[in-house]
Amino acid sequence: MTATAGLFAGGYVNATQESFEIDQLKKKRPSDYYARLSSNENPFGPAASAKKALKAAIEDSFLYPREYRDTLMDTIAEVEGVDKSFILLGAGSSELLHAAARVYGGKNSKVLSADPTYFSLVRSAESMGADWVKVPLTKELDHNLAAMEGKVSNDISLLYLVNPNNPTGKIMTGTEIRSFCDLVSDKVPVFVDEAYIDYMDDPAGSTTVECVRKGKNVIVAKTFSKVHAFAGLRVGYCIAQPEVIKKLAAEGPRNTLSGPSMAAAAASLTDAEFLKYSVKKNEEGKQYIYSELKKLGYDYIPSHTNFILFPISMDGEDFRKRMMANQVSIKTALIENQTYCRVSMGTLDDLGMFASAFKKVSSQKLNRS
Ligand SMILES: Cc1ncc(COP(=O)(O)O)c(C=O)c1O
Repeated sequence: MTATAGLFAGGYVNATQESFEIDQLKKKRPSDYYARLSSNENPFGPAASAKKALKAAIEDSFLYPREYRDTLMDTIAEVEGVDKSFILLGAGSSELLHAAARVYGGKNSKVLSADPTYFSLVRSAESMGADWVKVPLTKELDHNLAAMEGKVSNDISLLYLVNPNNPTGKIMTGTEIRSFCDLVSDKVPVFVDEAYIDYMDDPAGSTTVECVRKGKNVIVAKTFSKVHAFAGLRVGYCIAQPEVIKKLAAEGPRNTLSGPSMAAAAASLTDAEFLKYSVKKNEEGKQYIYSELKKLGYDYIPSHTNFILFPISMDGEDFRKRMMANQVSIKTALIENQTYCRVSMGTLDDLGMFASAFKKVSSQKLNRS
């Protein structure tokens, strides 16, 4: 990624998938290149099949994309085992999170979630006047489902769960989260954000879509931004009861997706080979970072996502700035007075930049947190 020359400069992103990493290693980096490891993007896609569908659909760009929407809806319905009336598309799952915040947030409403988690829905609901009821993670940084259940009452308008969680990379198992959703969704609507579910060992066995199929008041959001590498194409969807879909649609996205994005998404969703490839490349990155951290004597939280969280003993903002000065962007988090670094998986070249920058910065005398 270059800071000033645009996303595609330097030959990094234009390279074909096969030669991608080799090209990265061979080419001299522009001076303003930085390893963007702060937004949990996926540099190994989109799939060749998605790019082919995207290019072909550009020819139809003058048409309103009804047929592309139908194809994508049919594909999702088939993959998720639900009728199309249970599906709502969004330009990324963010649109659906905000739609849910509009439906369930607002004055005198309360949104319940773990702390920390991915805060987009919560912040959006707060901006509309909702109160946030937070339940700290356990000492092991897991969702505290017992404590969350204890907070469920008629006052709560929405319960939000993220599985796997961001920023921890930790999971609730399929059995755990489904029995929790089955139980509490009789009292409050539950929104389950499954943005990273494809990185789990058994995505099909871990999803809560089954709760929706059983008739429970559960909304499941999925995105193409992670394993499918569509962060820039903006495609997401949610699965919920048809009457809930209608409410979300009334408050949210109305035909916001482009034909080419939907064509590409339909191709990627059924490209099993690509999904395997994408998960494998992510795993290679994680193993590399684990081994570098081990060598330096750092603990880390084994991750079920495309990012790794690990504790550091430095001031977060000072650390972030110093990493950026070494051309690496990361995020930091402060959880129960402990500072953590969250590093997204990138190409091995970018992760190599992270490792050298981290060695340098962690050996500098920093303000201790
Ligand atoms: C847990 C979670 N949900 C949703 C999103 C939003 O993703 P998008 O709008 O690209 O689908 C993100 C982005 O990082 C995320 O981490």
